[in-house]
Amino acid sequence: MTYHLNSSVGKVSAPPIAESAAWLEGNSSNLPAINLSQAVPSYLPAPELADYVAKCIKDGSANLYTDILGLPDLREALAAHMSSAYRGTVNASDVAITAGCNQAFCAAVLALARPGDNIVLAAPWYFNNQMWLEMQGIEVRAIPAIDETDALPRPQDLASVCDERTRAMVLISPNNPTGAVYPPELLDAFFDTCQTLQIALLVDETYKDFLDPASPPHNLFGRENWGETLVQLYSFSKVYALTGARVGSLIAGPQMIEAVEKIIDCVAICAPHTGQKAALFGLQNLDGWKREKRLIMADRLQAMKAAFAAHAANYRIVSAGAFFAYLSHPYVNHDARAVAMGLAQHCGVLTLPGSMFGPEQDGYLRLAFANVDASAMEEAARRLGDYQPRA
Ligand SMILES: Cc1ncc(COP(=O)(O)O)c(C=O)c1O
Repeated sequence: MTYHLNSSVGKVSAPPIAESAAWLEGNSSNLPAINLSQAVPSYLPAPELADYVAKCIKDGSANLYTDILGLPDLREALAAHMSSAYRGTVNASDVAITAGCNQAFCAAVLALARPGDNIVLAAPWYFNNQMWLEMQGIEVRAIPAIDETDALPRPQDLASVCDERTRAMVLISPNNPTGAVYPPELLDAFFDTCQTLQIALLVDETYKDFLDPASPPHNLFGRENWGETLVQLYSFSKVYALTGARVGSLIAGPQMIEAVEKIIDCVAICAPHTGQKAALFGLQNLDGWKREKRLIMADRLQAMKAAFAAHAANYRIVSAGAFFAYLSHPYVNHDARAVAMGLAQHCGVLTLPGSMFGPEQDGYLRLAFANVDASAMEEAARRLGDYQPRA
C-alpha cells in the first residue's frame, strides 16, 4: 500500500533552487562558493524594523490572526503607496495582503482558472508560475520574451495563442529571470490587448522598488477601469530584505478580491501577522533605507557588467536589471544544465541554467547578482571566464 498521489503534482519538476543547491556540494575547486542562484538580498533588514517586530512579539500585538485580507492599516498604507508611486487610484478595498507574492500568484490563478483552462506566460518564465499552473491542471501557453535584440514580450503575439479557455496573461517586470524592465507603453499595450481578448493581466512587480522611483513603472492604475483587467502582484520580501517573513500583496478589482478572500481564508487564514507589522513599519518609516538599497543594487549591476566585460567577455549579457542578469554562455555543445553543474562543481559558482525557466533556454544562464557584493562579482566573472567544460 502506498499513497495514491495527485499525478498533476507528481509531473511537476522538483523545486529548482533546492535541486541546484546540491550541485555546490560537489564543489571540487577548493575555492569558496559564490552563490548566485536565489534572489535574496545579501544584507539584513533595517535594525529599527527588527526592533519593532521584536517589540510587537513581546507585547503581544502581533500574535493573533489578522483580518483575512490583512491589517486594515497595512492595506490603507499600501494603497496610498501604490496610488502615489503609480500616480493612479488604488483603494484599501482593492488590496489583499498575502503570505508572499507566490501565494498572491497562486490565489489569483485559483480565482481565475479551472483545470483545462489555459494561462499565457512569457518565456523564459518564473519557474514557480509554471509549476503552479501545471499542478492545477491549467495549460501553460507561451509567448516568446527573448531574441537577439531584447528580452521583451510582444503584445501582438498574444492573440494567436489564446482561445476561449484562456484566462490570463502573466508578465513580470522587472523580470525574473531576465532582469528586463518593461516600458510603460508595453504594459499599456498588453492591457489593451487583454481587455480586447477579455482575459486578465497579471503583473508581478516583486522587484519594482529597485527601479528609479522618479517615474511610475506603468500608468495602469491611472485607468478608470483597471479593476476589470489588471491584477498586480507584489512582495515585501525583497524591498525590506524579509524573504522569511512571508508577506506580499494582490491588488485587483472587487470581484477578484472577493474570490481571493475565500482562498486566503482556506490556505493561510491570513498572512503572518509579524510579517504584516514589518511591512507596515517599512512603508511608514523606511523610504530612506529603501533608496540606499536601490543604489547598492544599481552599483552591483554596474559591477557585474564591468566584471564580465573585463574577465568573461565570452559570455553575452542578453539582459540585466533589478536582481538578475541573463547570460548567453559560450559552450555551444553543452546544454545549460551541464554548464551550470560544471560551474558549481569545478569553479564553485552557482548559477541557474536557462532550461529551468522554460523551453529553448539551453543557451542561457541566470545570475542573481543581488546576492553578492561587487568584489565577489569580479571573482565570479574571472572563474566563469576561465571555465573550460570537459568534452
Ligand atoms: C518574480 C517573482 N515573484 C515572486 C517571488 C516570490 O516572492 P515572495 O517571497 O513574496 O513569495 C519571487 C522570488 O524570487 C520572484 O522572483
